[in-house]
Amino acid sequence: MEKQEKRGKFSSSLGFILAATGSAVGLGNLWKFPYIAGQSGGAVFLIIYIIFVFLLGVPIMIGEMAIGRKTKLNPIGAYKTLNKKYTFIGVIGVVGAFVILSYYSVIGGWVLKYITAYITGNNITDSTNYYQSFISSSIEPILWHFIFMAATCFIVLKGVSAGIEKFSKVLLPALFIIIIVIAVRSMTFEGAAAGIKYFLVPNWSDIDSLPKLGKVVVAAMGQVFFSLSLGMGTMITYGSYLKKGSNIQKSAVLVPIFDTIFAILAGLAILPAVFAFGFEPSAGPGLLFETLPKVFSSMPFGIVFGLMFFVLVFFAAITSSVSLLEVVTSFCIDNLKMKRKTAAILISIIMALIGILAALSFGVLQDVKIFGSTIFDSMTFLSDKVIMPIGGMLMCIFVGHIWGVDNIALEISNGGVIPFKWKNLFSIIMKYIAPALIMIIFISSLFA
Ligand code: TRP
Repeated sequence: MEKQEKRGKFSSSLGFILAATGSAVGLGNLWKFPYIAGQSGGAVFLIIYIIFVFLLGVPIMIGEMAIGRKTKLNPIGAYKTLNKKYTFIGVIGVVGAFVILSYYSVIGGWVLKYITAYITGNNITDSTNYYQSFISSSIEPILWHFIFMAATCFIVLKGVSAGIEKFSKVLLPALFIIIIVIAVRSMTFEGAAAGIKYFLVPNWSDIDSLPKLGKVVVAAMGQVFFSLSLGMGTMITYGSYLKKGSNIQKSAVLVPIFDTIFAILAGLAILPAVFAFGFEPSAGPGLLFETLPKVFSSMPFGIVFGLMFFVLVFFAAITSSVSLLEVVTSFCIDNLKMKRKTAAILISIIMALIGILAALSFGVLQDVKIFGSTIFDSMTFLSDKVIMPIGGMLMCIFVGHIWGVDNIALEISNGGVIPFKWKNLFSIIMKYIAPALIMIIFISSLFA
């Protein structure tokens, strides 16, 4: 019999907070947040978003971290230990991580392709063509996706403190420095004010009727979930590597605050420059891979800023993909008794193979449709609109009604050492408010 792997641990609270922030800060902050905010009322969206960060994001994050630290297991093992009947909630999480990583890594690969372009001095002047012909080709996107997956695997192989924590400690501060440099540059262009206005000035006409307001509220709630990596056991997994005496309440407040600051900085880095050079912000990948290269090629030292920007996106993406791979890896280590190395490599290979389908969705497989959407779009739909909300809702119901708030409060307060002053509010949110709100997001996003 092989010896069971020794379970990893974060060596410090700071390391844990940076790793969890690394998971949260990702493509969602860079390509979704600025655009959604601009489209959904500007500052009004921001205020609603921040309310939901605290109303839903913080309590759910506290819950996930506490489940992880209590059981010291991956999501499947954790639910199984707490109550065997609810093991399936953990399964949803692990499946979710699988689905997300296989397409997230494809986008990670695109980022690597753009980094290489800028390094080799290509200013990507004709970005529309460049982007379209790259993503629709059959070999290159797969190759870059493999490289991105290999890089993710490399970090996870090294383990929790020597891999994930160590890389997060370097990449996260670097990320913040780069985004601040780019935001300052972006906001000092002539004409930048139009972008700041689009992003931050309250636009009341976006919310002047109840249905419009409803739409903004639903968009904000969905974005909170996605951006904080909630609802699929990532924070359970990271929480399982926490030392017993750590302060969960503090971590679960700081991570969302950092993530929100980063999202705002992303908006200030991207939108002012886009407007200053006379472009329109577009939704989704097109914003990063088509619009921004146009902006860079119009500005002085564009290659330098382009390179800096895509290195930033890479850091943001890899600290998220690492957390996704870790969810599945920890399951294989805990429950299937695999070695970390074997587990990480095996899963990476499987994910790389599934990702091929996502990578080809923009080219040879673009006509393969599942309910009218490409494979890539179906995967994002499944993870963002189905797995995350359902996983999050079940987790709240489990904590509120099955495991019980008294039990989790004991874990959150470290057996009463760190008073859990918000216990009553937490209880109401977990039992009623969060499940109801998530149900609303779920149903309305299915029809959006
Ligand atoms: N939070 C990530 C982002 O903003 C995306 C994401 C969603 C995620 N769920 C996750 C990342 C789970 C890691 C793990 O891009």
